[in-house]
Amino acid sequence: MEELSLHILDIVQNSVAAKAELIEVEIVEDIEADTLTITITDNGCGMSEEMVKKVVDPFTTGRKTRRVGLGIPLFKLAAELTGGDFEIESELGKGTRILARFGHSHIDRQPLGDIASTMHQLIVMNENTDFLYVHKVNGNEFKLDTREVKEILGGVSLAEYEVMVWLLEYLKENEDSLYKTVGKE
Ligand SMILES: Nc1ncnc2c1ncn2[C@@H]1O[C@H](COP(=O)(O)OP(=O)(O)OP(=O)(O)O)[C@@H](O)[C@H]1O
Ligand SMILES: [Mg+2]
Repeated sequence: MEELSLHILDIVQNSVAAKAELIEVEIVEDIEADTLTITITDNGCGMSEEMVKKVVDPFTTGRKTRRVGLGIPLFKLAAELTGGDFEIESELGKGTRILARFGHSHIDRQPLGDIASTMHQLIVMNENTDFLYVHKVNGNEFKLDTREVKEILGGVSLAEYEVMVWLLEYLKENEDSLYKTVGKE
């Protein structure tokens, strides 16, 4: 994977598969601290302690019982290659929280990529899941809560063509403006 947004896509798809009702995606860029921190929290089915160990390190733990993918180990590796760190907390029946912290200016830090399109795709394709998306860049913040969007839409589907187009534009505009105003404070 070459972009952080693609890692996010993969990790969030795990949350969707875990039947989460609410998935929170938070990206915090702190130039002064030189960190980029991605936190994905869901209230899905969660994992046992044993399962957590297995998904983080699929090669050292016996994997005879079932196939375990590489989405989580690759995300962890991407963070660690930038001098960052990785945390995973999960509880059966409660949910999962995954945090990856990257060295913002590190040469090996993957670009964020097209996070507006990634979030758009996730939101539109999983209409029955709610998303709370927060992206902070220094003092600037963009927040999108699909529960609020759905209330405004009053029953109109997020997959309606006009709504889809509007949502993508909204995400793109707000993402762009996060960076445009940086440094003005
Ligand atoms: N948020 C989550 N809630 C519950 N279980 C999870 C969650 N994230 C991961 N898992 C479990 O860990 C496994 C491994 O996840 P991972 O993303 O590493 O690989 P994968 O989704 O199986 O395959 P892929 O390589 O296609 O992503 C999942 O199959 C799932 O059983
Ligand atoms: Mg996965």
